[in-house]
Amino acid sequence: MQERNKNLIEVDIDISKGMLMGEGINLRKETQSIENVFIPWNNLNSHMMCFGTTRMGKTRLMTFMIRQIIEKNDHVFIVDPKGSEDQEVFSWISQYANEFNSLKDIVYWSPERPRDSIKFNLLYGQSDEEIISTIISVMDVKDEFYKDIANEILTCVLAALSFLSEIRNPYVNKIMMLIEKQKIQHETISYINDAFDFNYIKEADTILNDMISKLGKNDDEINQIKQAYTQVKRIYKNPDGEIPVRQYITFQDLAKYSSFNNIHNLYEVLQNTSKKAIKDDLTSNIIENGKQAEASLKRLCETDAGYFSKVSTSYAVTMSRLSTGNVGRLLCESKINVLKDRFYNKDKRIIFFAQPYPMKYTKAADMLIKMLMAMLNNIIANVGVTGNPNHKRTHVMIDEAGSITNEMMLSLINKGGGLGLSLYLFSQSFADYKNTLGEEGATIMADNANSKAFFLVNDNKSAQTISDLIGGKKKADISYGTNEGTTSRLQAKTVDEALIPPHLVTQLDPMTYILKTGKDVYVMISPYQRDSSIEIIFDNTKEVKNG
Ligand SMILES: Nc1ncnc2c1ncn2[C@@H]1O[C@H](COP(=O)(O)OP(=O)(O)OP(=O)(O)O)[C@@H](O)[C@H]1O
Ligand SMILES: [Mg+2]
Repeated sequence: MQERNKNLIEVDIDISKGMLMGEGINLRKETQSIENVFIPWNNLNSHMMCFGTTRMGKTRLMTFMIRQIIEKNDHVFIVDPKGSEDQEVFSWISQYANEFNSLKDIVYWSPERPRDSIKFNLLYGQSDEEIISTIISVMDVKDEFYKDIANEILTCVLAALSFLSEIRNPYVNKIMMLIEKQKIQHETISYINDAFDFNYIKEADTILNDMISKLGKNDDEINQIKQAYTQVKRIYKNPDGEIPVRQYITFQDLAKYSSFNNIHNLYEVLQNTSKKAIKDDLTSNIIENGKQAEASLKRLCETDAGYFSKVSTSYAVTMSRLSTGNVGRLLCESKINVLKDRFYNKDKRIIFFAQPYPMKYTKAADMLIKMLMAMLNNIIANVGVTGNPNHKRTHVMIDEAGSITNEMMLSLINKGGGLGLSLYLFSQSFADYKNTLGEEGATIMADNANSKAFFLVNDNKSAQTISDLIGGKKKADISYGTNEGTTSRLQAKTVDEALIPPHLVTQLDPMTYILKTGKDVYVMISPYQRDSSIEIIFDNTKEVKNG
């Protein structure tokens, strides 16, 4: 980062009043005067959508809003799909984070720059059911049948791995946790993560000696720790040849078990182990788990190999996408989820910045965004269950949202607000959402957004949609009618007149927009948002190129 000349915004931001949106005139008020318009934070619980054609000022307005969220010390997840002009969004975010002493809160996530990206394992801490639904939600198939197949494979494999981990040397888990934490500490500024290279082994040796001195009370325990250490070393050095540990399961581990052969091998291991469990007289509970896992894997292994590979192709493709290339690096290089830890830690805050590059990494970008949404869904659902008192409000801001819309956003917008998540979507037109979500989905989305900002649109159809979305004002219409030619009757009815007629929406100047928030409607001028004083320079020379 380099400092340019520093010039901050000179407007009346006051986060105690809400989110400043600029100056505006309230069309619902009798006396109309220009005022600073704040949206109370509570109203933003119910999401915001912003529309407008290119160059009107959506991104500048978005970053102006981000500054206030950073100042408020809430979590914020920003998606800048294609990397805005000159990385301007990232520049502003860095500038504001710096201004509020929060540079350390920024985490970057992009398949374009895995080396500089945070790595977190979305599956960490998830139950079997959650893992299965996460994976199924990103499968690129319409036919439920293929999802059922994925469900069946995952159910069997996870049950087997859970059983095998249950009877594993308990020190394996402990040693792996220490190593994963070490790895993260190594990831200073650029989250460099070279899997389990020589340096980690050296550190791991220190871990071993530490553990022995703290926990090894007798020879038996010392031996167990040493054995666990050897196992862990094998797991890291030769992941393909070892049975993964359920607690630290990654997409890569699961991808291995999308092939018929490997599932067979797992079945064999399971048979031997469960025999041994019976012989060793382990608890009836464990033995029962082993038997069940064995029975379901047996069924899977009895399918015809040709049939299996035919029906499991879309599952295998999904798993391969999630575990290879740069996406694989982002999702599988760490076995734990640091982001989730930060999320629930009341002393920490997240400024998460994602650049999925949908044009370049079509399918992968789609998956990453779905994964991110799935994680947010999962996190807020847990907040709902536990009512976590440390929870900060989370703002999710998606620029160019039309290019990366998916059904997960619909689910977030449906239930996120009450659970402390606000979604802000910026896009060129309403049609962007219709293409992905269908007419009904797009309408649900718009209905659920309590605040909407409309910049200029060019076509009359969009303008009409916007005019309709803003709604009308009631006007009394009084007339005299005659009833059967005898008595004269006063008739009153109200007629709806568009508050903002369509032609107005096609005539807005850049930086001016219509804001509808709750029942209020304003004509607005965006706050002036200067160029950032910081320039972001990525060192791309160090990235290994693989898609
Ligand atoms: N609030 C603002 N303050 C200062 N300049 C602005 C503001 N809004 C818009 N502009 C000017 O208009 C240009 C386009 O703004 P912006 O990038 O925000 O548009 P956009 O709607 O996001 O366009 P696109 O859809 O192409 O991304 C800016 O580069 C800037 O010159
Ligand atoms: Mg923009």
